[in-house]
Amino acid sequence: MAKTIQAIRGMNDCLPQVSAAWQRVEGTIRQVVASYGYQEIRTPIVESTELFKRSIGEVTDIVEKEMYTFEDRNGDSLTLRPEGTASCVRAGNEHGLFYNQQQRLWYMGPMFRHERPQKGRYRQFHQFGVEAYGLEGPDIDVEVILLSARLWKAFGMTQHVKLQINSLGSNEARQAYRDALVQFLTLHEEKLDEDSRRRMTTNPLRVLDSKNPQVQAVLEDAPSLLDCLDAESKEHFSKLCERLSQAGIQYEVNPRLVRGLDYYNRTVFEWVTDSLGAQGTVCAGGRYDGLVEQLGGKPSPAVGFALGLERLVLLLETLEEGALELAAAEVYICALGEEAESAALNLAESLRDELPHCKFMLHCGGGNMKKQLKRADKSGATVALILGSDEVANRTVTLKPLRIEQSQQTIAFDSLAATLASLIKAE
Ligand code: HAM
Repeated sequence: MAKTIQAIRGMNDCLPQVSAAWQRVEGTIRQVVASYGYQEIRTPIVESTELFKRSIGEVTDIVEKEMYTFEDRNGDSLTLRPEGTASCVRAGNEHGLFYNQQQRLWYMGPMFRHERPQKGRYRQFHQFGVEAYGLEGPDIDVEVILLSARLWKAFGMTQHVKLQINSLGSNEARQAYRDALVQFLTLHEEKLDEDSRRRMTTNPLRVLDSKNPQVQAVLEDAPSLLDCLDAESKEHFSKLCERLSQAGIQYEVNPRLVRGLDYYNRTVFEWVTDSLGAQGTVCAGGRYDGLVEQLGGKPSPAVGFALGLERLVLLLETLEEGALELAAAEVYICALGEEAESAALNLAESLRDELPHCKFMLHCGGGNMKKQLKRADKSGATVALILGSDEVANRTVTLKPLRIEQSQQTIAFDSLAATLASLIKAE
């Protein structure tokens, strides 16, 4: 037998049993973003490598270790997008979306990072993101956070996610903090692990992110970012906190929240859960006022977030078992004999015209009635419709309930749609 070919490690197939869950999640997300007036943007999955280096930052884990970068046939360096923000800014600049304009955008699609795969962490994963441009906030910061909170509400998981927020201040304030932090870390260098020592020189703020308890203990006495904020950022942050409280959103200020991408300033936030093990950040984002200009556009303030769809689906599965099961066919249509098969095909088509929201599955492949009804049952359908030569001659069908307490009945073609509509609705 020929050797089978497997999917790339960390890249998952979405099989029919789970695609229904994904569709439900995506549908709810589309509804929620529409209710806030955000518009969809779709950008290519491949961009020039330069875009991510210049936006995410040369000394970040993503750019240093995780990008899928390759040369195309022209010798150009291309990268599979590891995130969506840089592409949004690139597209906005290229098509003049930002100049003297406000934009509220959203996107959904696959992203690629060569990380070590584990539960909730994959090499191809999917993000839903929103990005708002041309608004200085903090009202817009609150809006994007409220939008994310509405998603948790829609999925019944408000109790299972917690919001952490922080402010990184202006670039100057962050630089001042960086210096103070490096000074502090240098004094405690012998207690730091190798990774933190390396970060101390390349990207010191990321030391705050260390998962090592010993490093975290050292950081207990480290200077706090919030103490170094410039006056405007302080004001922005306190307004944000005030408005979140007014909106009834609970949050925790985490002065060590710094995020792994370089483009942020001022507000940063993460929604975290305890229910997913190590990969507990379901959604994350913040303000990135400098990026549009940094990528060649006229300055435009910006804020947004991205949500990991795999993590959201995993969380939903752990919270309510079976909640995401495949939506079964509702009506299974069986036919016996050549003539009935052809009548069943037409009947199914006209029923789909009359009841566009109902799911019909037509039996294919023949077989006796026992076999067909077995299939009908396996499909999860609520009722089976049976057509034989008598039914075709009389323009009737036999309706056999499969999952509802009713007796079998004979129904005329003409009243079938109305009967099905009331049965399926009543179920
Ligand atoms: P990020 O924190 O790198 O931010 O990713 C956002 C979310 O994507 C994470 O919180 C997580 O849920 C999900 N995610 C990231 N990497 C993986 C992975 N390997 N496997 C599964 N899920 C993953 C950004 O990407 C920013 N662009 C967010 C943003 C938008 N900031 C402003 N606007």
